[in-house]
Amino acid sequence: MTDSPLLVADHDTIRTITVNRPDKLNALDSATLDALRAAFEAAANDDAIRAVVLTGAGPRAFVAGADIAEMSGLTPAQGRDFSLRGSRMMRGIEKMPKPVIAMINGFALGGGLELAMSCHLRIAADTARFGQPEINLGLIPGFGGTQRLIRLAGRAAALELCLTGTPIDAARALQLGIVNRVVPAAELQAETMKLATQLANAAPLALRGILDCIDTGGEVGIGEGLEYESAQFGLVFSTDDMREGTSAFLEKRKPAFKGR
Ligand code: COA
Repeated sequence: MTDSPLLVADHDTIRTITVNRPDKLNALDSATLDALRAAFEAAANDDAIRAVVLTGAGPRAFVAGADIAEMSGLTPAQGRDFSLRGSRMMRGIEKMPKPVIAMINGFALGGGLELAMSCHLRIAADTARFGQPEINLGLIPGFGGTQRLIRLAGRAAALELCLTGTPIDAARALQLGIVNRVVPAAELQAETMKLATQLANAAPLALRGILDCIDTGGEVGIGEGLEYESAQFGLVFSTDDMREGTSAFLEKRKPAFKGR
């Protein structure tokens, strides 16, 4: 056993980061926020890692929110700092140069949904539940919930989830575009690893270009976004992996990408 709020394990080139406070349904306190920031920085800087899976320990929760016990005693200035601490960490995940999959195994509430939304892809168990229940605590979302929900699911869904605080099930989350896929709970691990393996075998520099174009391009006008994509498109022609990918197609074999 360990006192760390995270478990980190590598399976070949895939790193799994698990929030490990199951007795608190993996609630995010300051120590966990800081540990997540450090863990994602380490994964970004480790050339051997090509994809990251983020999940929560235990059978019940991905993450049931920011730690309410810690938040209950904060001053306004400390509240702002707590928000920035989580928000900046999650922006770091969103800006990761390699794909990050949220494997949502149970409750993804408040900061848990915000954490999942900062990942690039979300795959959920059919038993998972989602919501922004901060309103029930006299709070508002503080780790990007209002901003990312609008972008992922649109204004109507963002308003509904944040104003009512009522949780939704996985089928509705899929319908709203909040998650990419829903699978039977018993298959979540295997399906997530299948997806992570597919991404880990793809050309790393091309993946990085796509992540960069979609993150940057999603926030600027269409003209500027298209220019940005063309510049990144040109850049991948400098990679060995682009030669390998196109040659492998023409030679009717599987490509072996090296991240160069
Ligand atoms: N922060 C701190 N502790 C939390 C927590 C959170 N966000 N969510 C759950 N916990 C703790 C509970 O306090 C409890 O701890 P205890 O055993 O020391 O009393 C433990 O996790 C288990 O949760 P419990 O509420 O007993 O489980 P439940 O099955 O009855 O309910 C939930 C599950 C998810 C519905 C309920 O825990 C909940 O509403 N959590 C808060 C969700 C929330 O508002 N998140 C947004 C925060 S901004």
